[in-house]
Amino acid sequence: MNRAAVVAGLGAWVPETVVTNDDLAARLDTSAEWISTRTGIEQRHIVAPGESTGDLAVEAGGRALKSAGTERADMVVLATSTPDRSCPATAPEVAARLGLGGAAAFDIAAVCTGFVYALGVSAALVESGTAGTVLVIGADTFSTILNPADRTTRAIFGDGAGAVLLRAGAPAEPGALKGLHLGSDGTRSRLLEVAAGGSRQRSTGRPAEPDAEFFTMEGRAVFAEAVRHMAASVETTARLLDWRLDDLDRVVLHQANSRILVAVAERIGLPADRFVRNIERVGNTVAASIPLALADGVRRGELLAGQRVVLGGFGGGLTWGSVGLVWPDVVAA
Ligand code: UT7
Repeated sequence: MNRAAVVAGLGAWVPETVVTNDDLAARLDTSAEWISTRTGIEQRHIVAPGESTGDLAVEAGGRALKSAGTERADMVVLATSTPDRSCPATAPEVAARLGLGGAAAFDIAAVCTGFVYALGVSAALVESGTAGTVLVIGADTFSTILNPADRTTRAIFGDGAGAVLLRAGAPAEPGALKGLHLGSDGTRSRLLEVAAGGSRQRSTGRPAEPDAEFFTMEGRAVFAEAVRHMAASVETTARLLDWRLDDLDRVVLHQANSRILVAVAERIGLPADRFVRNIERVGNTVAASIPLALADGVRRGELLAGQRVVLGGFGGGLTWGSVGLVWPDVVAA
C-alpha cells in the first residue's frame, strides 16, 4: 500500500443547552452523586426544540474543514443512528449545506462504533484512489429517542458532533490511519435497541406500543461486552501495527462510562491516565464520542503530535472496532 488516508483536520460541536446531574435529580428518581460515581458524567448537552443531528454535523464538519485549511471535500460520510429523517440519509443535505454540492454523501449506522466504521470505509476509499479527501462526521442526538422517564439512559446520553477531514498521503506520514479492526455480533442486537419504527414493526400494520419508540439498553450486560470487545479490539490493532501495548501513548475510546475506561485499562495492563477522558463534560454522545474526545484531548494538551494513538469504539449491533495512527499536528477547531 503506497497511499494512505491521513487526518488533516479536526472539528467538534455540542449544542448550547447544558443539563447537569442536579437538573436530572430534580426531575427523576436519581441523585447527582449516583450519576457521577456510577458513570463519571457531570453534565451533557442536548439539542434545542427543532434542532437536529444534521445541524450539529454541519457545525462540526465546517470546523474540520477550517482546521484543515480547505473548503473542499470529495465525499461526506456521516456516522449517525439518529438521522434527521428515517429516509433519506442525512449526509447529502449536510454536504449541500457545507457548500460541497455534488460530493458523494452517505450515512453509516453502527451506533457508538459508527465513527470507527466511518473512518474505516472512508480510509479504504482514499487508499483505493476513489476519493482524494473525505469529510468524516460522527453526530447523534440521542436525547431525541430517550424515554423521558428512564433515569438510567437519561443520565448517560448527550448530543454532539465531531469530524475529521481525511486526505490522501503516504503511509509513513503522521496522521495516516492503519491497523483497522472491525467486528460485530448480531446475536446480541437486542441489548441496545429502538424496537419500533423500522420495517419489523411497521410491516405488522399495527401502531407501535408507545414505549417501543424509545431507546432501551440492558446496561449491565452491555458494560461487560463493552469492556471485553474494546480491550480485544485495541489489542488487535496494536498487534496489526507491530506496536507493543506499552508503546501506546494515548488510547481514545468511545466515552460510554468512565468505569468502562478504567476496566479496559486494567484488562490490557495500561495506566488509566493514558486514556483520554471527556465523558464528565459531554456524557455518552454515541457516534460523536470519539471525535469529541479527540478535540478535547488536543485542546487540553493530552494528545500531542508524534504520539502513538489507538482509537476504539463499541456499541449497538453489537459492533466494535479500532484504528491506529501517529498523532498529526492538527488544531481542533
Ligand atoms: O454506548 C455504548 C453502550 N453503552 C454502554 O456501554 C453503557 C454500559 N452500561 C453502563 O454504563 C452501566 O451499566 C449503567 C450506567 C447503565 C448502569 O450502571 P450499573 O452500575 O451497571 O447499574 P445497574 O444497572 O447494575 O443498577 C444498579 C442499581 C439498580 O438498583 P437496584 O436494582 O440495585 O435496587 C438500578 O435500578 O442502580 C439503579 N439505577 C439508578 N439509581 C439511581 C440505575 N440507574 C439509576 C440512576 N439513579 N440514574
